[in-house]
Amino acid sequence: MTQSTDILVHTEAGVATITFNRADKKNSITEAMYAAMADALAAAEQDAAVRCVVFQGDMAIFSAGNDIADFLQQVQAGSQGGTERPVWRFLRTIAAFPKPIVAAVCGPAVGIGTTLLLHCDLVYAGDNAAFSLPFVNLGLCPEAASSLLLPQMLGYHRAAEALLLGEPFLAEAALEVGLVNRVVPPAECNALAQAQARKLAAKPLAALVETKRLMKAGQAPQVQARMQEEGASFARLMAGPAAREAFTAFMQKRKPDFSNL
Ligand code: COA
Repeated sequence: MTQSTDILVHTEAGVATITFNRADKKNSITEAMYAAMADALAAAEQDAAVRCVVFQGDMAIFSAGNDIADFLQQVQAGSQGGTERPVWRFLRTIAAFPKPIVAAVCGPAVGIGTTLLLHCDLVYAGDNAAFSLPFVNLGLCPEAASSLLLPQMLGYHRAAEALLLGEPFLAEAALEVGLVNRVVPPAECNALAQAQARKLAAKPLAALVETKRLMKAGQAPQVQARMQEEGASFARLMAGPAAREAFTAFMQKRKPDFSNL
């Protein structure tokens, strides 16, 4: 089991709760954190006492997405490829996870902070939630099969606005398109997710698992295939000059200059 204090895992009453715990860096996700989350999901799948998983941050932040210092370090090391990286293992695991997953989202949910929600079954948002998919702004492309799932959920043109412009959309818009189930005051969000998770955990597990499997069966192979395709594109773009410029600019706290790219 990968250890990381930046990811807390706590199991109680049939619910395994995975908490982002890196508030000083806005819960941005490092390789060690992806590994810890993938391991936690694998353990939750195996553990008969776990019947439901919750992802949560705190009242102010869900996740700022991939740690950009990690991205830059991978680019500089020339090691950005490889579908065995923890992030891809985490995405494959969450997309195929058989038991229900509930998410509580307050504050920013950037990049994978939003796309992982496409693989959750119930999503509750604080009214301060802000979802954004700034992949293009970083010289990258979408992941988590979001290039497939978001156009289906939002319609092509709204998905294009979210993915090509990368501008944030707020909790009410996410509710309207069905990305979240309910919007509540941030102070109530994690408790609501826990309460819903406990309701799920009290139900017969085999029936839950079979129902989830059936709802997703039509698309499961396409989702895994699209993640594979996105992974190859993502690795190629990460090695390119636009991504390097975007990561460097973020670390130097300046606007990126794509004028020659
Ligand atoms: N990777 C690494 N560090 C990050 C980060 C990320 N994705 N997001 C935030 N941080 C760090 C900042 O560098 C800063 O570190 P410092 O205190 O050492 O300078 C700290 O977290 C606080 O971030 P800050 O930008 O000052 O917070 P904010 O409240 O003004 O804004 C966000 C919050 C999430 C809107 C903003 O941090 C942001 O846009 N982050 C980048 C998101 C992103 O592009 N992620 C990649 C998606 S693929």
